[in-house]
This record gives sequence, C-alpha cells and structure tokens, in this order.
Amino acid sequence: MCGIIGRVGEGNALETLITGLENLEYRGYDSAGVAVKNGTGINVEKRSGKVSELKRSITDEPLQGAIGIGHTRWSTHGPPTDENAHPHTDHTEDVAVVHNGIIENYTELKSELAESGHEFSSDTDTEVIPHLIQHHLDCGLDNESAFRRAVDELEGSYAVAAMIADERVLYAARRGSPLVVGMEDDEYFLASDVPAFLEYTDTVVYLEDGDVAIVDETGVEFTDLEGNPVERHPETIEWDPEQAGKGEYEHFMLKEIHEQPTALAQAIEGRIEPELGRIDLTDFEPGTFDDVDCVQFVACGTSYHAALYGSVLLNQAGVRSRALLANEYSISAPPVDENTLVVAVTQSGETADTLSALREASDAGAQTVTVTNVVGSTAAREADETLLIRAGPEIGVAATKTFSSQAVMLVLLGQRIAQDVRGETGADPEALLSDLETMPDRVEEVLATTTAEELAATYEGSRAYFFIGRGLGFPVALEGALKFKEITYEHAEGFASGELKHGPLALVTPDTPVFAVFTGEEDEKTLKNAAEAQTRGAPVIAICPPDHQAALVADAHLEIPDVDSDLAGLLANVQLQLLAYYAADRLDRAIDKPRNLAKSVTVE
Ligand code: G6P
Repeated sequence: MCGIIGRVGEGNALETLITGLENLEYRGYDSAGVAVKNGTGINVEKRSGKVSELKRSITDEPLQGAIGIGHTRWSTHGPPTDENAHPHTDHTEDVAVVHNGIIENYTELKSELAESGHEFSSDTDTEVIPHLIQHHLDCGLDNESAFRRAVDELEGSYAVAAMIADERVLYAARRGSPLVVGMEDDEYFLASDVPAFLEYTDTVVYLEDGDVAIVDETGVEFTDLEGNPVERHPETIEWDPEQAGKGEYEHFMLKEIHEQPTALAQAIEGRIEPELGRIDLTDFEPGTFDDVDCVQFVACGTSYHAALYGSVLLNQAGVRSRALLANEYSISAPPVDENTLVVAVTQSGETADTLSALREASDAGAQTVTVTNVVGSTAAREADETLLIRAGPEIGVAATKTFSSQAVMLVLLGQRIAQDVRGETGADPEALLSDLETMPDRVEEVLATTTAEELAATYEGSRAYFFIGRGLGFPVALEGALKFKEITYEHAEGFASGELKHGPLALVTPDTPVFAVFTGEEDEKTLKNAAEAQTRGAPVIAICPPDHQAALVADAHLEIPDVDSDLAGLLANVQLQLLAYYAADRLDRAIDKPRNLAKSVTVE
C-alpha cells in the first residue's frame, strides 16, 4: 500500500531511490515517482505505471542531487494517472512530499488552502501536505516548524516524507503507517519497509506513532510533534540482502515457495524438543495462558486462513476459539475481557484492519499476542507479546512461505495454550513435534516430486476452479482458492467439503475441476463430497498421500507425504501454491505483482 523511500548522503541519490522503489514495489505498483534536490531547486519525475517505466523515462536526463525522495503508489484517492503520482509539490515547487495512508480531513484543508490562493493539480489527498507546509513557510515559520505544524493539522493515517528546496534535510513523520530510518555512516535512508535499503544498511530505527524524524547527512534527530526530543534505539535487521533478491528464480513467488523448507526450519529452530514433547517458546513459558478462557484470532487475507487453521486446532484441543476477519471485528466480534486472548496474525504487522482489531481488543481489556514476520512492526510493538515467524523477507504479493510459517507457529502456540488452559493438548505431543521436525524435509519432498505443473496444463481454460477441504483442510482449501484467483485472475472458490451439496454443487460441471484436500480428518466424508462432484462430471483432483483411497478414485492426484493430520494440510497447501503458480505462469500473469493488489494494505 504505497512505498516510500528517502535518501540523504554523499553522491547521487537517484540510483538508491530507484533501487529502493524497485524493492518496495510489492507495496503498490500503479504509479511511481522521485524528487531530487539539485543545486537550485527540486526536480520531480513521476508517472503512472511501474517503476521500470519511471526508470526508462529518466535515463536521458538524469536527476542530479544527493538528497531525494521517491514513492510507488497503490491508489486510494484518484486514479493512477501521472498527475496523481507522488511526489507532490506545492505551486512554488519548493516543497515535495511523498505519503502513505489517508488524510481524512483533506477536503476541508484543500478548500481552506484554495481560498487563500493555492492551486491544486491532482485528485489526491496527499497534495494538501506540500501546500500546507508552504502555507506555514509563507506565514514566516522556519522549515522544521512549518513541517511540524502541517503534520499536526492532518487527520487520518500517514507516513510522510518531505523535502524543502533550500536545505539538504529530509523531514518525516508517522501516524498509523509504517516508516523506518536506515543508518550507515554518512548515508541515511527513510522507507516504508526495510527491504528498500537492506543492501546498504541493516541498522534501523522504526518510528513510533507521533514521531518526527529530521534527517541530514550528519545524523537523525527524533522528536515528538511538539519538537521535544524522543529517544529511539537502533536495531539490527538479521535478514540477508540476498534473501530479498530473486536469485535463480523467474519470480519471487516461486523462490519463496522453494524457501519454505528453510523458513520452517527457522521457525521451529530452538523451539521444540520432540523427544520430551516439549515446546520452548521464549516469552511463552508454561503457565503464560493459565487464565485464558477463550482465544480470538484476528487477521486478513492469507493470514486469516492461517488464523482459521490455528483456531480449528485449538477447538480440537478443547480450547474455545474463533478466527475473525479483522475488517469485520468492530461490528461482529464476540465480547472480550481480561481472560480473552486475542492473537493478531499478520505477516507485515502493518495491516490497518488487523491493527484496528488488535487495538479494539486491547482497549476492551483482552490479552494480546501478535504473530508476525516483521520485528519492530506496529502490531509487534502494540501487542503485549510477539511471536516471530522468522520466514525472512517475502516480496511476492501472494503470501506463500509466511502462510506456512504462520501456521506452524500457530501449531506451537496452540499446543502451549492448550497445555496451559486444559493441562493437556488432546494430541500426542511427541508424535506431533517429531512430525513437525521433519516438515522442512517433507516440504522439500513435495517440491521435488510435484506434478502441479502438468496439472496446471491439463486444466487450463476451465470455467472455474473449486477447492474443498474439511477440518484443517478447509482453511487450506480457502487458501488454495485465494492463491489461484490472486495470481491467475481466474474464478476460484474454496468451500468446506460438506457445504458443497448446500449450494455450490449447482456450479459444478465437467468444466470445473474440484481440488479436494485430504488431511486425515473424516476423509471418507470428503471423499463422498468429491464423488458427488465427480458424478456431475467434474474432474476431481485429490491432494493426499500416495496410498490413500482418494488417490485411487480421483481423476488425478497431487501427492503429499503421510504426516500427522495437524500438519498434512500444510503440505497440501504447498501443492496448491505450485498449482496456482504454474497456472498463472502459463497465462503470463504478473505473478509477483497481481493487478489491483498490494502486499501490505495500510488503509481500512
Ligand atoms: C494483503 C495481501 C495479502 C495478505 C493480507 C494480510 O491483502 O495482498 O497477501 O494476506 O494483506 O497481510 P498481513 O501482512 O496482515 O499478513
């Protein structure tokens, strides 16, 4: 949902800005732009389309200057036109601004500014910010005070970076949208997310809501909106810059699917002792959840499917639990109290809907935990405790390895919660943890033997694609369908197997393949449901172990190793990720940046 980059240091800023935007493009890719301060003023180049188009347009006439800002956009206010692309400037072109978030009072601000003679050239909410800064400069404030005053007048959510023509300084502020400062000797960066500058530095400071950062080549000063200094401590990011590149793979998504064995190994490392049936989660010692009487998971998109997975597990272990769509939470959440544990599941830790549900639960007195991939993210900072999934950077917009790592962490967290709440987990912990320990190898096996590419070819051109599953297979079916629709743009839907006969069966024809996930939970019923579709002519593709009965009766099958039913769905999910990937590749889709989507959605 929009990527911001800023850079100040020696030499030219342009290359760093463009690289930063390329690394942030997963956050939005419908328009892009940069502003660079040269000796005399600010030069802006921006246009609709991807960063590659911006890059092509500036090769002939490079923008020279050591300080600059850039932006890649996911439109909210106004279509993705050249005019609406960021950076935005005021009419004097002495102030340039990039912004992520929504300025809720922009219409009022815009009409006040228009009355005092400011002319606007875009439909965006952002454009009021440079005008507001210029207005305060015109009233006699110095640059820093003008920036602060302008930001103070904004309502809504923002991460803002601004540059003013007469000095080599970047001003930044955050409220509700992520912003991080990177530091390297005499070069400093601002960005929405760390991959933007990871190849230059791994030393970062995450801004907190209400923070202002004033950055020049000598250092960074952090203050609140009134200008009082605030102390912020640098953290070291452990991601390897190479992890953020595509390597030998054609797409980030394929690379990230193949990184799952490593991601899962990292997720469980040092956290399980299978021989003892023991889980060692730092910060979640035995007894942590003794006073919990129910668990609510809140999440969106793929993370919601991981949350659903966690919730099914907890219910099966006898702990009351619900998975709730974070965007529906304020309307339909069951009541919470201090014995409720609310678990926010969010890869980025920045999804606005999830943050809002987390805050609401916290305000109502619930205990909160965030399960995330991003150290220092807003959700990590705001929850009482954080459980890191350690998946490494995920760039493809369609989440893959983070789903697997989230689900595995929810298996562990679920075991700990069930042990605390009920004194037992309802499962054989040694067997489960032993299987868990082998998951990286099992995923490797799936990756090495998959026939998903052939199946994608066989069923290409179908009218729709259906995915069914029961128990833990249900969230996997939903995730399989989501992945498929996100990147192929084909119609795909996931259903609980038993629900097929209550309506969706009307859609089933010989032209609608049905992918059935078998996890070892009441498989005979799922088989019956699949047969009901097969009888109506639909090809059925079973995702199951090789000697499973379903493999014999299905039209085709995708093989998964035989593991504990708590984990089988995760292997099936890898097959469905590959299926979606190869189907989308055949259609030549923009796999890593599917149309209209963004990896991190920081507006509600
Ligand atoms: C966006 C992405 C999805 C993601 C969802 C939640 O919609 O396109 O892939 O699952 O946000 O993101 P989160 O960072 O909270 O897991």
